[in-house]
Order: sequence, then structure tokens, then C-alpha cells
Amino acid sequence: MEGLFSVIFVLFVAATPTLYARVTPNAGSSSFNILNYGAKGDGQTDDSQAFEKAWHELCSATEGTPTLLIPKEKSFMLQPVLFKGPCKTDNINIELQGTLVAPESVDAWKWPDNIKGGWIKFSDINGLVMSGGGTFDGQGAEWWTKYPSASHRPSALQFLSCKNLSLSATNHMNSPKNHISISKCSDASIFNIHINSPEGSPNTDGIDISVSSNILIKDSLIQSGDDCIAINNGSSFINITGITCGPGHGISVGSLGRDGKFETVEEVHVRNCIFKGTKNGARIKTWQGGSGYARNITFEDILLEGAKNPIIIDQNYKEYQHNGLAEAVKVSDVTYRNITGTSVSVEAISLNCDSIGCTDIVLNQINITFASPGKNAQSLCKNVNGTFTSCIPTVNCY
Ligand SMILES: *[C@@H]1O[C@H](CO)[C@@H](O)[C@H](O)[C@H]1NC(C)=O
Ligand SMILES: *[C@@H]1O[C@H](CO)[C@@H](O)[C@H](O)[C@H]1NC(C)=O
Ligand SMILES: *[C@@H]1O[C@H](CO)[C@@H](O)[C@H](O)[C@H]1NC(C)=O
Ligand SMILES: *[C@@H]1O[C@H](CO)[C@@H](O)[C@H](O)[C@H]1NC(C)=O
Ligand SMILES: *[C@@H]1O[C@H](CO)[C@@H](O)[C@H](O)[C@H]1NC(C)=O
Ligand SMILES: *[C@@H]1O[C@H](CO)[C@@H](O)[C@H](O)[C@H]1NC(C)=O
Ligand SMILES: *[C@@H]1O[C@H](CO)[C@@H](O)[C@H](O)[C@H]1NC(C)=O
Repeated sequence: MEGLFSVIFVLFVAATPTLYARVTPNAGSSSFNILNYGAKGDGQTDDSQAFEKAWHELCSATEGTPTLLIPKEKSFMLQPVLFKGPCKTDNINIELQGTLVAPESVDAWKWPDNIKGGWIKFSDINGLVMSGGGTFDGQGAEWWTKYPSASHRPSALQFLSCKNLSLSATNHMNSPKNHISISKCSDASIFNIHINSPEGSPNTDGIDISVSSNILIKDSLIQSGDDCIAINNGSSFINITGITCGPGHGISVGSLGRDGKFETVEEVHVRNCIFKGTKNGARIKTWQGGSGYARNITFEDILLEGAKNPIIIDQNYKEYQHNGLAEAVKVSDVTYRNITGTSVSVEAISLNCDSIGCTDIVLNQINITFASPGKNAQSLCKNVNGTFTSCIPTVNCY
């Protein structure tokens, strides 16, 4: 029966080339439209199963560039869901034109056994390309008030063990916790995205990176209640450029070394960014009593528009144990170059290191003025060596 049907279908297709062209728009590509999997897209109905079915076909497709279309002007309500690879091809496209929305009330979230801590999770996928102008709406408002502790709230979008990931032209709003997290990934680029949560929404980091390397984040607007980008343990070769951050807590390396842990970050290069009314700017924070290092980090060509604590290294971010623990996360080879604009805190530069010291810290072409007239910006420097040239306010470490 099935065989006969195929034969008839093939003959039919061969005889009607225009229809064939309409069904599969690009030769060699396979297109999947979420509406063909029973998704309603009314913003209310749980469409998770349709997405799971479509993902299964997308991930099993062997021809061309499997592409999932999530059409515009529709809103798909999703429960926590895991899209897991490995897939059959190294090139999976998701064209997100519409909106993915989390359940509106906290009590309506249903947690499958295989998912913890995140709303939409992609794992073990090579060559995932997500784009399309659509939106992730995490419905965080009720979470923020109902669960003050960050550990009880989920992230919105998570990429885990992905290689060669591309995320662009997407909007991310109102995550219960951080909007995007990237962990155990390599070779990712994220560009032209917009993250938007209210100032004061708790722990709503824009992008969190951990245990990942060769990551590029560029040309994006990040407005959030916490760090615009946080670079955590196990991350290296991270480039960040063309980011407008604010409101938010700036771009942070760390915190590292919490609870006495050994944690490392190296080769982080932040360029050509704007901090607009942020609570911090270029920040490195490590816990007392931890170990490991943060090294080879540059922040350059940065414009400050009323940032608080624009340049800050805090090697005593929080205390883990008392009794004067000798250990700390080593901070070295950090360069701040061409950072100009206004600070809303008098202490515009704070290099606050522990007794093990921060070494080879370079400040060059810095000109930060206090935002209100009548006072000059100041700097603090403790247990630091390095070179400080053409720097306003002047930095005195010896
Ligand atoms: C990365 O993914 C893109 C798009 O999916 C693909 O064209 C490219 O060949 C991949 N690169 C590698 C090194 O796999
Ligand atoms: C980061 O920037 C450096 C220097 O411009 C470049 O060599 C490297 O390829 C970049 N890496 C990524 C992942 O963009
Ligand atoms: C830090 O990252 C490394 C990978 O670079 C990992 O092996 C280690 O377990 C992580 N440490 C902690 C405390 O999570
Ligand atoms: C880190 O920076 C130092 C000093 O600039 C340099 O000697 C070293 O090679 C760098 N490390 C890496 C991994 O590039
Ligand atoms: C300093 O950074 C700004 C961007 O904030 C850039 O426009 C300018 O060209 C840079 N100046 C130098 C000398 O690199
Ligand atoms: C520093 O910035 C202020 C305010 O923009 C400006 O008036 C001053 O000339 C600058 N100083 C230097 C040395 O560039
Ligand atoms: C800072 O101190 C370290 C460790 O003592 C030393 O290796 C380095 O050369 C010093 N750097 C400067 C610029 O003095």
C-alpha cells in the first residue's frame, strides 16, 4: 500500500514540476512548518508536543539543511522542553519568526523529568542556526516576586554542549532568571539580538557563558536587571564587541571561586561597547578563599554614559570563610584601554585586590569624569601592580 502510494506520488510529482517547487522551496533542503505538527499558536494552548514531534523530524532529517519554520504573528506556548541532539546533519536551522511564550503563571509550569532549571534547552547539537526576528518571552514577572532566591528560578534559553552555534535576530524578554546561558559549547556566535527585562528584575543576566570557548557576541542591545554578559568558570577566547548595555550590571568576568572552588577564565576581549546607566561597567569579581585565575582580559574602546563603578576589579567580592584564608583567585594581565565618559559614582576606578595581589594590570587612555559638577572622579587601588598611563582619574598603586 505504502509502496504503491510512493510510486503514484513520484509520478505525480514528476508530472507537475510547479507544485513540487512549491512544496520544497529550495532543492536539497527540507522544510518543516510547526503548524503542520498540530501547534495552535494561540499563545494559550500547550504546543510543546508539536515542537517535540517537529524537532524529532528536523533532527533526524538527512537531506540538505533541515529548517523549522515558526511563523510570524503567532505565539506558541511552551512548557519546559529539551531539544536534544546529536542530529543527523551538522546544520540545523530554526527560523523563529513568531513568539515562544512560557506559561503565564508560575504554577502552570510543568517540569518533565529530563529538564531542570531551564525553559527551552538545546543540547548536543552541531551547527544549529537560529534566526528570524522572533521572540522568547519568559513570563518572568510572577517568578521574580514569588521566588526571591535565584536558585529557585529557571533560565529561559539554554545551549548545552553545542558546537558551531549561531543565534541572531532574536528578541528575549522577561526571563525568570538569566535570558541565555551557554555552557560546554565551542564556536558560537551571537549577534543582532535584543534582550529586554526591567531594571531591578532579579538575576536577569543577559548572557551567561561557562565552560565554553571561541565565543563571539556582537552588535546587540542588552537591557536587564543584572549582568548584561557574565563570563564564568571554564571560559576562554571570548570576544564581545558592539554591545550596548544598560540598564544592567555591565559585562562581568565571574564571580569566580565561590565556596572555595578552583575556577578559571582567560582570553576575554571586550571592545567597542557602551555602558548606559549601568550599575557596573567592566568588572572582574572573585570570591575570597577560592582559587584559579582570571587572566588575559582586555576592555577597550568603551563609552560610559553615567555608569556606576565603571572600572572595577573586586578580588574580595564576597567572603567564603573567615580566619584570613590565604587563597584567592589570581587576577593578572588585565588591560583597560580607551575608556571614556561619565561615572555616577565618585569612585570611578576601583582595583580592590586581596593580599595575593593583582598583577600586570594596565590602564591607558582612560578619561572618566564624575557626572555631577563640583566633584572629581577618584580611584582606589589596593595590592595591584601594573602600568597606568594617561589615566583620569590618576591611579596610585604604590
Ligand atoms: C558551521 O555551521 C554552518 C552553518 O550551519 C556551516 O555552514 C559550517 O560549515 C559549519 N562549520 C563547521 C566548521 O562545521
Ligand atoms: C577574537 O578576536 C581575535 C582577535 O581579533 C581573533 O583572532 C579571534 O579569531 C576572535 N575569536 C572569535 C571567536 O571571534
Ligand atoms: C570549571 O571548569 C572546568 C572546565 O574548564 C571544569 O572541569 C571544572 O569542573 C569547573 N569547576 C567547577 C567548580 O565547576
Ligand atoms: C596572556 O598574556 C601574556 C602577557 O600578555 C602572554 O605572554 C601570554 O601568552 C598570554 N596567554 C595566552 C594563552 O595567550
Ligand atoms: C576610543 O573608543 C571609541 C569608542 O568608544 C572610538 O570611537 C575611538 O575611535 C577610540 N579611540 C582610539 C584612539 O582608539
Ligand atoms: C577628559 O574628558 C573631559 C570631559 O569630556 C574633557 O573636558 C577633557 O578635555 C578630557 N581630557 C583629556 C585629557 O582628554
Ligand atoms: C607584578 O608582580 C609580578 C609578580 O611579582 C611580577 O612578575 C611582574 O613583573 C610585576 N609587574 C609589574 C608591571 O611590575
